[in-house]
Amino acid sequence: MQIILIVLRLTHIVAGAFWVGSALMLALVILPGVRKSGPGAERALPLAKISQAMGLGSLLTVVAGLLLYWLVYRFAWAWISSPVGIGFTLGSLAGIAAFLLGAFSTGPTSKKMAALGAQMQAAGGPPTPEQVAEMGRLQAKLASSSQWGTILATVALALMAVARSL
Ligand code: HEM
Repeated sequence: MQIILIVLRLTHIVAGAFWVGSALMLALVILPGVRKSGPGAERALPLAKISQAMGLGSLLTVVAGLLLYWLVYRFAWAWISSPVGIGFTLGSLAGIAAFLLGAFSTGPTSKKMAALGAQMQAAGGPPTPEQVAEMGRLQAKLASSSQWGTILATVALALMAVARSL
């Protein structure tokens, strides 16, 4: 059992660090820098690959977190309602919300943007007004869902970091 818990804790924390670190790096450093080069410049980023890597990181974090919650604390109400349990539980809920937002909004939107970008490039000439409008709509959706996802994942990290001292 001890070895299983060690593997789950390692997976949970390393994948969580990768996920939240990537989200913060994108939101605070890469995207503001890329946007300075002009509207639509995000298309230069390998969006489909970034969303795949962050999707895998978030899935590993949530699955290992749920297993730890179950194996270590057995979903016991006495623990859940204690100050430490409340900290971990609120952190878990924020982490699950960030994961669902990534799986159902940010991930599919960045895949659609990558496909539309490839379609525009393959067509050769200037993009049609419909394509430009669709790209603008997708960019706005991606910006808002990735902002919320980053906020929720950072809240999850902060709560997980302090929960044991509550
Ligand atoms: C952004 C997402 C998350 C990050 C960065 C993260 C990070 C962490 C870290 C650093 C710890 C170690 C804290 C300590 O031992 O004092 C931890 C523990 C824990 N996390 Fe998360 N976590 C995340 C999401 C989740 C989710 C979604 C769940 C459950 C559904 C969860 C369940 C747990 C549990 C139960 C522990 C305690 C494990 C133990 O006592 O061995 N976490 N997490």
